[in-house]
Amino acid sequence: MRKQPIGFFDSGVGGTSIWKEVINLLPNESSIYLADSRNAPYGEKSADEIRALSVKNTEKLLELDCKLIVVACNTATTNAIDYLRSNFKVPFIGIEPAIKPAALSSKSKSIGILATKGTLSSALFARTSSLYASELNVIEIIGKGLVERIENGLINTPETRELLQSYLDPMIAEKIDYLVLGCSHYPYLIPLLKEMLPVDVQIIDSGRAVAVQTKKILELNSLINTSAEQGSHRFYTNASVDTLANLISDVDFTKEVEFLDF
Ligand code: SIN
Repeated sequence: MRKQPIGFFDSGVGGTSIWKEVINLLPNESSIYLADSRNAPYGEKSADEIRALSVKNTEKLLELDCKLIVVACNTATTNAIDYLRSNFKVPFIGIEPAIKPAALSSKSKSIGILATKGTLSSALFARTSSLYASELNVIEIIGKGLVERIENGLINTPETRELLQSYLDPMIAEKIDYLVLGCSHYPYLIPLLKEMLPVDVQIIDSGRAVAVQTKKILELNSLINTSAEQGSHRFYTNASVDTLANLISDVDFTKEVEFLDF
């Protein structure tokens, strides 16, 4: 059981930003990553559609013998994780926008949240936001079109920069001092964001927190791999392998990227 892989799924390639944090913290764990790029973006779909896709991905990861599942997608977490936890026996780790640390640290009392429509309109997001940020000026912006650009490997282009600028302008006008990235694709925009935001704006994503939580839940369930060997990693995509292979090319682990029709 302990040697079984950790499963990850996302609407596409973005969840690899979460996968990197988890595997850096837990290098002895093996993993299977499902990139459901054919159905990206999830953020524009209804809650029912997002739940159905999340169930499909979970069933595939269980068929591949995963011991725990990381829902490496904010939109799937905010719309489907309660359902997954009630209907499947394995532990699930989700990823939510890091509103709490931003709200607690903000001095300007103005924070920006960039996420998908599906995340920003979810009940889970509304709960978290009213719990931690009700006293703050919260500028919520839907990053429409950004997931598609990242899925197509169009990260550092003039068009992406222009789109991003239109989303950042209202936040900059409101003097935000924290920008919360509420989509697992967006960490790939951090180099661009750093160039475009005022220097005193901090960017927060949830990758490290997800990794720490994954370790804690593996330990609590006696599922942690105690082997001294480095894990091995399989990546499956139901679209083109190129962007996926490219985004993980900087990671020095044994890994395979393949097409799978799931
Ligand atoms: C999407 O598929 O629209 C974005 C994935 C995410 O919310 O992390």
